[in-house]
This record gives sequence, structure tokens and C-alpha cells, in this order.
Amino acid sequence: MSPDLSSAKPASPGPVPVQKGLEGVVASDTKISDVDGVKCELSYRGYSIDELAGKASYEEAAYLLLNGALPSAGELADWNRELADRRPLEAELLQTMERLPFGDPMAYLRTVVSIMGLRDPHAEDLTRLRPQSLDLIAKFPTIVALFDRLRNRRAMLGPRPNLGHAANFLYMLHGEDPSPAAVAALDAYFVLLAEHSFNASTFAARTSVGTQTDVYSAITAAVGTLKGPLHGAANSKAMEMLNEIGSADQVEPFVKKTLADHKRFMGFGHRVYKGEDPRAKHLKRSAEALADTDDPKWLRISERLQQAVWDAKKLAINVDFYSASLLHYLGIPTDLFTPVFACARISGWCAHVLEQAADNRLIRPLAHYTGPRGLRFVPLDQRAT
Ligand code: CMC
Repeated sequence: MSPDLSSAKPASPGPVPVQKGLEGVVASDTKISDVDGVKCELSYRGYSIDELAGKASYEEAAYLLLNGALPSAGELADWNRELADRRPLEAELLQTMERLPFGDPMAYLRTVVSIMGLRDPHAEDLTRLRPQSLDLIAKFPTIVALFDRLRNRRAMLGPRPNLGHAANFLYMLHGEDPSPAAVAALDAYFVLLAEHSFNASTFAARTSVGTQTDVYSAITAAVGTLKGPLHGAANSKAMEMLNEIGSADQVEPFVKKTLADHKRFMGFGHRVYKGEDPRAKHLKRSAEALADTDDPKWLRISERLQQAVWDAKKLAINVDFYSASLLHYLGIPTDLFTPVFACARISGWCAHVLEQAADNRLIRPLAHYTGPRGLRFVPLDQRAT
């Protein structure tokens, strides 16, 4: 006989206000980064990004995010060596990558992460989250650069141990030594995009790992979430928008048409920042440094668009706006912009995976049901056709 639990049932709670899109909801404590939407400030582990930009390398920033403090010289040397050792891809993974369809670059990256999980015999061992995270951080740029070489039937290039994270990516992508200016710009981009608190992709990673699943599943979810145009793909959409505008004198007609069509300006607006994204000014500076020796057209269009959208709708730019010109000036194909974003964000994702796993509670919000109730089952032969 089953026990009678009716008297133990608590009364249903009354209606709870719904926070659509979880807007304004604080889901957990974190020590990794702080986003102040009102002051428009961002800090990693207590360091403002204004303090880190142009000073810290991506490797140092990744160390800071995962370990909670900047490394000493010795710690950084060990960390760099470990990343360098982990950058090359195993032959079997390469062979599988060669056989995958070269479709959407983010779908490809998402699939490769999933295959890495399938190939790791210790994927389910949660005591290995840290080395597995380092492996993912080190390998992301190799995977993205190789994807581009493979789809263009160019010879595969492995990482060089004497090059850092940003330099290696540019070398593997373009097949030549990158200029110091290009390396500095990409390194700054990687640092600025490395972490951003509970954004959608990071929250997806934390939700996954909250079920005690493996890190590969969490990062697969994160890559798939970053892929959306309201999140990571806004950078390539912003470049497509600049291309569509074509020249600075076409900015105002474009703004008028976009407003009339009720469409969105990509690289504008933010859920948390009430003004300009604090990363934007640094990205603009990096793009300007590259454009000096290149064609400043994209920056001119961007500046005029920034002003026109502000005048028309009081919408400020976000991180993806000047990322577009910066990545374009680096010779990165537009459809690789979001995978390059992932190459930066992987260290933030992994830091959150480690933080969530270290003090886990299953993430399981409620929903306000708005469908019908109390319906009676109708046998199939009696249902209306
Ligand atoms: N262009 C035109 N109107 C906009 C935009 C935009 N980019 N962003 C917000 N709005 C308007 C929106 O139409 C709405 O107006 P109204 O109240 O008159 O209907 C109002 O602003 C509020 O918009 P919302 O969509 O409710 O705000 P949200 O907090 O849900 O959206 C956002 C945030 C980032 C999704 C949105 O600003 C957007 O779609 N931006 C364009 C895509 C983009 O650049 N995404 C990158 C985000 S930052 C980096 C990252 O996360 O990867």
C-alpha cells in the first residue's frame, strides 16, 4: 500500500511575478567578473578591463579568470608552456575533422567540441575538469584556424610553440607571420571578450554543468548558444550591416529604412549596460591602430552610424560593433567572427564551469503555466479529424 501523502502536500504558492528573459534576476554568487550596468563598468576578478586592456596578454587574463589572481613570472611561464603543449590536435581528431561537412563555422566548432568529449575516455571524470578546460582553451584557436584551411583546401598548419595564443591563431589562419600590430590587436580583443558574467552562453554552460554533466557537454551548449544573432553572431551581422551600407554617405538612409522596417541595428543595445559598453572604446582604438595602414572606410561608416543611431533611437553600441571592423582589418573572414569570439570566451566559460562545479546546486527555475487545465483524455477514434 502506498503511503497517503495528501496531508503532507504543501499548499501551492500564489502567483509569482514572471521575469521574462530572467531580466534582473540574480541567479548565483560569482567571484569571476562584475558587470555594472549603470556605471557601464566591467572587471575581471577585481581588475577593471580598463586596467587590463593593452597590458595583460590573453594568457595572463585566462590565468586570472581560472585561478583568481594574476600569475607570477614563473607561473605564467608554466601556464604558457602548458597551453603550447596542448595547442596541437591529435591525429585522430584531425582525421575526423577532415571528414566533417564544412558548413556553418559555429556548427562545426560545436560538433568538434562534442567529438572531443566523445574521444576523451575520462570525459565523465569531474576531477579532471581543470586539465580538460585547459585543453579546450588551448585548442579552440587551432580548431577554428584549421577549419578555415580545410574548407579552402589549403595545407594544414599546426601551432608554433614559440608563438603566443593570438599570434598562433593569425599564423595558422593566414599561413604567415603576423605583424606585431595585428598580434597586439587580436590579443587585446581576446582579453576584452574573455569573460562577461552570466551572459546567455555562460549561463548555458553553468546550467549544463549544474547537472554534473561533463565539461564538453557544457561547452557544446555554450558554443551553440553563442551562435545566435542576439548574442555572439551579432559581430558578423554588424559587419554584414556595414557592408550593406557600403559608404559613409549611405548611413542616414540606412538608419531611416531600418527604423521604418522595424529591424535591429546589430552591435547596438544591451540587456545590462544602460549606456555604452565599456569594451567598445578599447576595441575601437585597436581597430583604428590597424586601419592607419589600411582602408579607414569601415571605421568612418561605423562612427557615422554610431552617431546616427544614437540621434534616432538613443541606442548605444555594444561589444560587437567595433569588433566587426577590428576583425575585418585582421583579415578574418566575416563568418569566422563568432568562432573567434568563442576562442576568447572559452576561458570565461571554463572559469564558470569550475566555479559552478565547486559549489554546485542544480539550476532549475520555475515556469508560469498559461495553457489549458483539466482536459479529459479522448480516445483516438473519437477525436475530431
Ligand atoms: N536595434 C533597434 N532597436 C533595438 C535594439 C537594436 N539593436 N536593441 C534594442 N532595441 C529596442 C527594441 O526594439 C525595444 O524597443 P521597444 O521597447 O520600442 O519595442 C527596446 O529597445 C528594448 O529591446 P529588447 O529587445 O526588449 O531588449 P533586450 O534587453 O531584450 O535586448 C539585445 C538586448 C542585445 C538582444 C538587443 O539590444 C539587440 O537585439 N541588439 C542587437 C543584437 C546585438 O547587438 N547583440 C549583441 C549583444 S551584446 C554582446 C553579446 O551578448 O554577445
